[in-house]
Amino acid sequence: MRKWRSLPSLLFGCGSAALLSCCSGYSNLAAPVAASPLRAGPMLCDLTATSVRIWAEATAPVQYRLQVRVADEDGIWQDAMEGSARSLLALNGPGFRGVARITGLRPASRYAYRLVDFRGRWLPDVHGQFFQTAPVDGTAKDFTVAFGSCAGESGLDPSQPIFAAIDALQPDLFLWLGDNTYFTAPHREWEQPELMEQRWSSARAISSLQPLLAHTPQYATWDDHDYGSNDSDSTFPLRAESKRLFEEYWPNPAAGLSSTDGIFFQFTWGRVEFFFLDTRYGRSPNDAVDGPQKVLLSAGQWQWLEQGLQNSHADFKVVVSSTQVLSTYHRFETWNMFPQQRARLLDLIQQKKVSGVFFLSGDRHIGEALRELRPGSYPLVEFTSSPLAAKLGEAQPDAAVPQRIAHTLATVENFGMLHFHFPAPGAADFSTGPVLSFRLHDVYGHPLGSQVVLRLSALQP
Ligand SMILES: [Fe+2]
Repeated sequence: MRKWRSLPSLLFGCGSAALLSCCSGYSNLAAPVAASPLRAGPMLCDLTATSVRIWAEATAPVQYRLQVRVADEDGIWQDAMEGSARSLLALNGPGFRGVARITGLRPASRYAYRLVDFRGRWLPDVHGQFFQTAPVDGTAKDFTVAFGSCAGESGLDPSQPIFAAIDALQPDLFLWLGDNTYFTAPHREWEQPELMEQRWSSARAISSLQPLLAHTPQYATWDDHDYGSNDSDSTFPLRAESKRLFEEYWPNPAAGLSSTDGIFFQFTWGRVEFFFLDTRYGRSPNDAVDGPQKVLLSAGQWQWLEQGLQNSHADFKVVVSSTQVLSTYHRFETWNMFPQQRARLLDLIQQKKVSGVFFLSGDRHIGEALRELRPGSYPLVEFTSSPLAAKLGEAQPDAAVPQRIAHTLATVENFGMLHFHFPAPGAADFSTGPVLSFRLHDVYGHPLGSQVVLRLSALQP
């Protein structure tokens, strides 16, 4: 678990005009601006061992240059550079939002960052503007990941306090698994790009969310309600507009491929690789007749996933799907509505002998952990978290759901926590090998139900 609590004092402690003046080459510096013109953010995204991207949305046209400093060395603020150019966060286009990249960072290192305007004034750091770069790919380093889905205004508390609870547990990453906001029905928001944009903008500006955005890298896929209408698929008429908006609000490491449209992407953190699926853009209608032509993923996305899983050198391969992959016990959307696609995915893992795979999902408006025993395969496990802040769904007891790992059902608003542990040589638990543990937490951050522990050694073909 990382320890950030000492950072805010460092951040505020160095805010002297004299220090910035002598360090940055700007002589006409006064003080931090009194009030931030940001509507939402800054938000961290697309974190690697040597770079990070920072997103923000303003209330009026404005432009900032990004500055960083090494957090633990009481270093000087330096202009962040991308290539040979200063890293500019330009919020002066449509919607007054944008993203900029900071490059040239050291792996596994802590940095503070700030936004400086054209007069040399920096925005006050209200939420804790710091980050830790990822380790070099393949490095065995413990880390924690929080994840969730379904965040809207229909939950118990419209202020969505769950984000403060997530932030308090200090995850290294936060994953959004879909229905990250809801295009709502009274105005059929999914039929008008301006309304979809307004919905994203208001969802992103929730005050309880801002600290998590400021110092925890965010990664997201979508589900039906933040893509289009209920159960929407590739026939959704505004899918291109919706994708454009999604990319503007979620600067993920990639969005599909040049040859295949969609928002799917992958990234690696140490010895774990994440595969974020797009289960909407290329999807056939749920009620289509099953067969080879009824797809959940487009042909290009299948090829990308198959090659990615087979070529991965990561210990754990985390397949992230908006809707549940393994569940076969209820009437709501799952991969089980696409039997051939479900079989193709599970067969891929088995027949290509891909080790270390497990699934994350959301959508269900309950939380649970599922397990499927397949002859000739290692047990497949899925962790589902939903909702972050939305109405609760129907829940069946463990006795009615043989697939569920006992005592993992959550019937309150919740988020999931994953702890990846890689015992060091010589450690008492070294012989155990890498271990993943999972647990759901409620809006107060309290753990719910049973913890599930998965040893990498149990996820071998
Ligand atoms: Fe939902």
